[in-house]
Amino acid sequence: MLPAKAIVEIGAGSGTNFQFYPNQCALRCVEPKVEFKGYVDDSLKKRGEHLASVEFVQGTGELLSQIESIKPGSVDYVVCTLVLCSVKDVSKVIQEVKTVLKPAGKFYFLEHVYASESSKLVRICQNVITPISKLLLDNCHHNREPWKALESAGFSSITYQRKSIAKASFISPLRWLCVGIATK
Ligand SMILES: C[S@@+](CC[C@H](N)C(=O)[O-])C[C@H]1O[C@@H](n2cnc3c(N)ncnc32)[C@H](O)[C@@H]1O
Repeated sequence: MLPAKAIVEIGAGSGTNFQFYPNQCALRCVEPKVEFKGYVDDSLKKRGEHLASVEFVQGTGELLSQIESIKPGSVDYVVCTLVLCSVKDVSKVIQEVKTVLKPAGKFYFLEHVYASESSKLVRICQNVITPISKLLLDNCHHNREPWKALESAGFSSITYQRKSIAKASFISPLRWLCVGIATK
């Protein structure tokens, strides 16, 4: 039998991504808020029965490699969705992701990001609401550009798309996503 794939999800929240993981993987959810553990347990019952094992670890992406059960160079896949907007240090998190991945391991990300240079009105809106959302929504930034840190982190390859998910006339600060895969 093949060994279980080791997956780390940074900022797993309530565990909405569990349904997308392959059968029989060993999942570690790294989440700063211990109060999410109850939601993770609920998600496990609803959409996590195919997983081989799940460990909830209270911690942050910035300190990934210091977590006892996540050794450097031991992880097949790291996953991060809608988290880099609110971490303290995007570059540090990405460096830590690279540290814990095995050679050729993959980092899957989906983040809401700063709009393109041509979407000036959306950018203005994102800059205006960011100080408010930082205060009210747990440090959530609407004007981050995480692909820049990814590109300078030294992955062997990165593919990503940065795109709007709403009609051009709709000025929503959340409408720009950056979705991709970086390979160590
Ligand atoms: C918007 S929620 C996204 C939850 C989940 N990833 C999803 O897509 O449904 C952001 C999550 O990131 C977590 N988070 C914030 N800062 C973090 C950090 N430095 N390291 C790891 N997770 C963090 C929050 O506690 C929260 O669970």
